[in-house]
Amino acid sequence: MTLHISSLHKSFAKGVATGTVNVLSDISLSIDAGSFVSIIGPSGCGKSTLLRLIAGLARPTSGTIQLDGELISGVSEKTGFVFQSYALFPWLTVVDNIAFPLAMKNVPKAQRRAQAMEYVGRFGLSGFERSYPVELSGGMQQRVAIARSLIDNAEVLLMDEPFGALDSQTRSCMQQFLLEVWRQTCCTILLITHNIDEAVYLGQRVICLTQRPARVGDDIPVEVPYPRDVTSDEFNVYRRRILRFLDREHSAAPGGNPSC
Ligand SMILES: Nc1ncnc2c1ncn2[C@@H]1O[C@H](COP(=O)(O)OP(=O)(O)O)[C@@H](O)[C@H]1O
Ligand SMILES: [Mg+2]
Repeated sequence: MTLHISSLHKSFAKGVATGTVNVLSDISLSIDAGSFVSIIGPSGCGKSTLLRLIAGLARPTSGTIQLDGELISGVSEKTGFVFQSYALFPWLTVVDNIAFPLAMKNVPKAQRRAQAMEYVGRFGLSGFERSYPVELSGGMQQRVAIARSLIDNAEVLLMDEPFGALDSQTRSCMQQFLLEVWRQTCCTILLITHNIDEAVYLGQRVICLTQRPARVGDDIPVEVPYPRDVTSDEFNVYRRRILRFLDREHSAAPGGNPSC
């Protein structure tokens, strides 16, 4: 699915007396089907807002977002969403959490369970299919969330700091896992992260957003084959470029970064 974003603006009303806050300003982007794109930017610049607009969870103030030429006008089954908080249903087992989107479509129970069990196997969750989210590690909960977002054949996976709550070892394991899922499914992945190494390690392209109102400040093709070596000189070139960009953005904010 090709994603086209054209002259996108988003503002929110702050209150009757205080006017509006401009969050996104004139964002235009084209994202190829099957690509893996990382999005990075200062805290509070509008990254989650951008992803919510693409997911159809909110409407642009002006501008358009199209998936394969079709305007996004609401939540679509073509897109899956994974949040930092695992957002699983605590009262449902692993298999029922994964099968949930199919239950919403009234797919017969036996069929949706069979499909969910396929993901249980593929996603390393065997033996935990009857467990509840509270009984799982953070990494496993996020595997369930990713499986749930893909089970209905989503072609675009939107991920908002999905590994932000994980310890560094689990995070690195989940990064490998996500690359494998991407290879197997060929879906388009847009991943928001505040972690520079993660952005470069995963993305074929890193889009850097400026301070609010966010614009595309830099758009960096990462021309390093997978698997990437985070200790290599070429990796460091990208790391340095993004670090400098974020430093500039932080110092450009009035009084430094307001969210520090
Ligand atoms: N529904 C909303 N109503 C009002 N303001 C909002 C809403 N959603 C986000 N904002 C504001 O938009 C700005 C960007 O938020 P967000 O997209 O969450 O930033 P980021 O994900 O980059 O940290 C923040 O100032 C936030 O307060
Ligand atoms: Mg956010």
